[in-house]
Amino acid sequence: MKPITSKINSTGHLEIGGLDVIELAKKHGTSLYVMDVATIRSMANKYNTIKEIYPKTIIAYASKALSITALYQVLDEEGLFFDVVSDGELFTLLNAGVSPQKVFFHGNNKTNAEIEFALSKKIGCFMVDNLYEIERLQKIYERLDLRHKVEIMIRITPEIEAHTHDFIATGKRDSKFGILKEELLGAIDYIKTIPYIECRGLHVHIGSQIFDIKPFDVVVETLLDISLDIYTRKQILMKDISIGGGIGIRYTEADDPPDIENFVQGIAKHLKSYLKKINYPLEPTLILEPGRSLVANAGVTLYTVGNIKNIPESKTYAIVDGGMADNPRPITYGALYCADIANKMNEEKNKVYTIAGKFCESGDVLIKDSALPKIADGDILVVYVTGAYNYSMSSNYNRYRKPAMVFVEGGQDKLVLRRESLSDIIRNDVKV
Ligand code: LLP
Repeated sequence: MKPITSKINSTGHLEIGGLDVIELAKKHGTSLYVMDVATIRSMANKYNTIKEIYPKTIIAYASKALSITALYQVLDEEGLFFDVVSDGELFTLLNAGVSPQKVFFHGNNKTNAEIEFALSKKIGCFMVDNLYEIERLQKIYERLDLRHKVEIMIRITPEIEAHTHDFIATGKRDSKFGILKEELLGAIDYIKTIPYIECRGLHVHIGSQIFDIKPFDVVVETLLDISLDIYTRKQILMKDISIGGGIGIRYTEADDPPDIENFVQGIAKHLKSYLKKINYPLEPTLILEPGRSLVANAGVTLYTVGNIKNIPESKTYAIVDGGMADNPRPITYGALYCADIANKMNEEKNKVYTIAGKFCESGDVLIKDSALPKIADGDILVVYVTGAYNYSMSSNYNRYRKPAMVFVEGGQDKLVLRRESLSDIIRNDVKV
């Protein structure tokens, strides 16, 4: 749950990456995102162990979880590929110096401008989500008079249920994502008529924050069964299969996620045995697209506690200098989080607080019942597991400035995202 380098130091403060977080809060201000690079690298290594069993595997980090230049640099060093879903993510990745060849471009409604940008950068692969997208890809390619081969994969709606929050379950038949299975052969026929588009394979993503690994075996089987059917009927071989992302992680003690090494090695073994069983004519490249599980546990958010409001017959609010704008997951999904008082790590947790944000919504509560030591104005609250879908989903609600982010590694801190300034807040305003 906590970053792997977390420790309590001799002053009773939380330490991450060899640094006292109270010193980080003093130096960079709060609210502050802190990412432990050792945890990120260790998760990437765990995913990479799949190659010991199935070397033809690509780990493509789903960068919607956290898209910033410095993270692309670190994961590029670890040999990962990348999913992007917008020109903004692609632009950030290119800014980090990552090769566009390592990019899979997802999205259920890529705009013409995004397709044009990605085509002109010669990205590795378009994950086509929809039949219209193929036609738009064609029109734009021809208008730009390009010459290179465009590789695509097709996202299909697998009609597989994964047990997770409705908003983040994406594999159902009525999902807005993907091509229906019955439309697939028609799409394959159509693509065959386009000389510069090559369909590399098929893709499925069933949802996010999934604890049960069985649906992923079903995904592997579904992708291979469909690929074999295409080969039998059309003599076209699907060379890649992508099983998407979605493995769950531990936000609180109640969560029981699978171990990543067991999960990926299990997938590889299942793939190998199913390939044999159905006698598939080649070894496809297997693509995994983890987002959350690569980065969530590396991240914590530091806040300063300000006002405390005690309602005698009910609860005590501890109000922090952030909230739903830097972490919209509690108000959006009812997501649960854990916290500590980072300057009182050895003190007894004998009080229960409701950790509320400073934004103008009653629902802006980060944690409903948090057992903590007695809090005083100025204490530093640390909320764990905020590395994924926090900054990436953050907003400027109430025109509040987005926090800074620091990477910590081996006793060094590096500011990777500056805190927004007041002039940033009005940078796009135009006076009448
Ligand atoms: N691949 C595709 C095609 C996806 O749509 C996603 C996530 C992933 C991979 C990565 O899934 P992960 O490994 O991160 O579960 N905002 C929500 C999560 C939305 C996930 C959207 N798609 C949350 O905060 O829980």
